[in-house]
Amino acid sequence: MQPAEILPRDRLIVPLDLPSVELAEAMIARLGDSVTFYKIGYQLAYAGGLPLVRKLVDSGKKVFIDLKLHDIGNTVARGVESIAKLGATFLTVHAYPQTMKAAVEGRAGSGLKILAVTVLTSYDDGDMHAAGYRLGVSDMVEARAQQAQVLGVDGIVCSAEEAAALRKVIGHQMCLVTPGIRPAGSATGDQKRIMTPARAIAAGADYLVVGRPIIEAADPRAAAEAIHQEISQSLA
Ligand code: C5P
Repeated sequence: MQPAEILPRDRLIVPLDLPSVELAEAMIARLGDSVTFYKIGYQLAYAGGLPLVRKLVDSGKKVFIDLKLHDIGNTVARGVESIAKLGATFLTVHAYPQTMKAAVEGRAGSGLKILAVTVLTSYDDGDMHAAGYRLGVSDMVEARAQQAQVLGVDGIVCSAEEAAALRKVIGHQMCLVTPGIRPAGSATGDQKRIMTPARAIAAGADYLVVGRPIIEAADPRAAAEAIHQEISQSLA
């Protein structure tokens, strides 16, 4: 996917990290047309949020299902077939070759795109070694991104700090989706490796996932519009 093909307003993805469907729907109503792309993760999906995917898609929004699947190939492929029927745009899987291959097979013929999570951003080299891996984080991120590309995966979830290095490894066909984005002056929360929207776009990110700076803002709509403005300026 070439970045130029993405509508500028679709580059901002807002995670509905909320405990209930009611609260998520209230936030969607508050954000109105300032947000075109939502992410549904563990918290909302396991609180009955998956039917919201179809509802959002039917109302013209795009949805990223962030369930980071990982299981035996057959289970992943059949699960992805079911998810593909919900009408979402993106689904995450962990970047294990069997899992990625199965996910690409499961979404065949649908509009669903598969994003690979290479190494969780909470992992450092010590965590990798403790988990039995020989490679450190950056070597593993690059190796898994290359495998994702060979297997036909559509994009990678990475920190904005990894984006420039990954672009060198995978080129410009795959999309890069980056969380850990904070507009200048906003609270970092538990994110450690953060970047502003403008710098993340300049580093090669295609889509920015921005949660708390929007959903915890006094005026979420104004916060989303300010990020759109920063993205447009960075693209100009
Ligand atoms: O509130 P905040 O902007 O930190 O939200 C970031 C979102 O991106 C959350 O839904 C979080 O689970 C997700 N995410 C992340 N880091 C990753 C992958 C996903 O923060 N490496």
